[in-house]
Amino acid sequence: MQNIIRQLEEKRQRARLGGGKERIDAQHAKGKLTARERIDLLLDPDSFEEWDMFVEHRSTDFGMEKNSIPSDGVVTGFGTVNGRLIFLYSQDFTVFGGSLSEAHAEKICKIMDQAMKVGAPVIGINDSGGARIQEGVAALAGYAEVFQRNVLASGVIPQISIIMGPCAGGAVYSPAITDFIFMVEGTSYMFVTGPDVVKTVTHEEVTQEQLGGAVTHTTKSGVADKAFNDDAEALLMLRRFIDYLPANNREQPPSRPTPDLGDRVEIGLDTLIPDDPAKPYDMMELITKVVDEGDFFELQPGYAGNIIVGFGRMEGSTVGIVANQPMVLAGCLDISSSIKAARFVRFCDCFNIPIVTFVDVPGFLPGTAQEYGGIIKHGAKLLFAYAEATVPKVTVITRKAYGGAYDVMSSKHLRGDVNFAWPSAEIAVMGPKGAVEIIFRGDIGDADKIAARTEEYRQRFANPFIAGHRGYIDDVIMPHNTRVRIAKSLRMLRGKKLDNPWKKHGNIPL
Ligand code: HXC
Repeated sequence: MQNIIRQLEEKRQRARLGGGKERIDAQHAKGKLTARERIDLLLDPDSFEEWDMFVEHRSTDFGMEKNSIPSDGVVTGFGTVNGRLIFLYSQDFTVFGGSLSEAHAEKICKIMDQAMKVGAPVIGINDSGGARIQEGVAALAGYAEVFQRNVLASGVIPQISIIMGPCAGGAVYSPAITDFIFMVEGTSYMFVTGPDVVKTVTHEEVTQEQLGGAVTHTTKSGVADKAFNDDAEALLMLRRFIDYLPANNREQPPSRPTPDLGDRVEIGLDTLIPDDPAKPYDMMELITKVVDEGDFFELQPGYAGNIIVGFGRMEGSTVGIVANQPMVLAGCLDISSSIKAARFVRFCDCFNIPIVTFVDVPGFLPGTAQEYGGIIKHGAKLLFAYAEATVPKVTVITRKAYGGAYDVMSSKHLRGDVNFAWPSAEIAVMGPKGAVEIIFRGDIGDADKIAARTEEYRQRFANPFIAGHRGYIDDVIMPHNTRVRIAKSLRMLRGKKLDNPWKKHGNIPL
């Protein structure tokens, strides 16, 4: 017995040491924490229950039978974040470069299966050289087993990936299926093929950082949701982020006490909209003045800035915010912003998170780049996402709501539950200038006539009343009352029940 206990302790020590002191030092020298240090920062103190510490690989090729380390390059288990249960895996780059073997994959699958049974989120900390080269197809099979579980878990439990080192080749596809991807600047990168292959095939010279670093994926590709300065910041922000999410698709989002009451008025909002309709203003000001304590967790802040998405709280409960941003491309919808917002709306709908939409949209962005790029199909994603969403939907039109974009942005016609407009709202097929140039084309040479027609059109349509007459908006509200009215609406909507027709699944335009 004593002997077994001693062996147990030795095995634990061996596993905790991972790839050894030298490799741990190398990890630290790169500015990275180890797999276990990351877990310590992410979870509540002493909450981690580790599983499968003694698992080792079964490979016998290339001398691997003599080279085995307990845990096999990934630390797995469960614990709590702010008291709430989560499952996690953390790849250990010091052990075979965190590469994924058959056994390593089995460990990940085991915690995913358990998370599905109990209904708790899975967080994956990725730091890996990809498939364990010595194992060949067994490693590839392991990846596919993980992918399959990612897909089945999608929409059932929240899945979050943090990339804290390499994530290359097919390994990128597990994070890609998860709900959110966070990266660390300077030390993480994701690409399907690395710089050497790129050079051979396309003759492009590109660094790892340029090809798939955090800046690339948070500003150019839109693959990642947010980047942080270092491991510690990423993990601490993840703790904050998790607090917004329900544990699974049968739970309501968590609520937390707040001193910020629902009846707070914001007089400053009455002057937010400039007199000149062509002038931009910062939609972020409206969002931070409406949500509890000004606390807004923005996602994809550096990508498709013409739309803002993120989480806030109203009277303590999580809400998803979607808002056009007039400061970027005048708030137009384009391919990137449609995709960004559609995915966010669908996440909220999966997980019972009410959606608050702030609208100031002059339409879809015109041009060959957009049409050739498939704005028809991509714009339809956002329309589809709003139309299928059954969660409470509250919409506030602050200024422009023109054309198809009016329909798309959570309009009454797409089952918006409560649709408000500010007195400054303009709801029409298009802006006055464009409209007059089409319907009074014959008068184009006559500047006075065109000016008079434009003014007539503005008088007729640049207000919220025509939509109000038809009941397309439920009320015209004063800007300073926006928080009050949204809070009341969300309270009313707490018991909302709405089901879509039975189907295997819809066919969103991909
Ligand atoms: C086995 C690996 C490994 C791998 C790294 N190591 N990647 N062992 N399989 N895939 C080992 C190294 O041998 C080394 O062991 C240790 O990890 C650290 O690696 P280094 O190369 O010294 O580190 P670094 O210089 O930081 O470079 C990291 C790296 C590089 C860029 C990730 O290791 C690399 O290019 N690895 C191969 C990447 C790759 O092509 N993977 C397969 C992708 S295809 P020692 O003992 O010296 O410490 C794929 C298919 C998935 O993943 C398909 C799913 C559909």
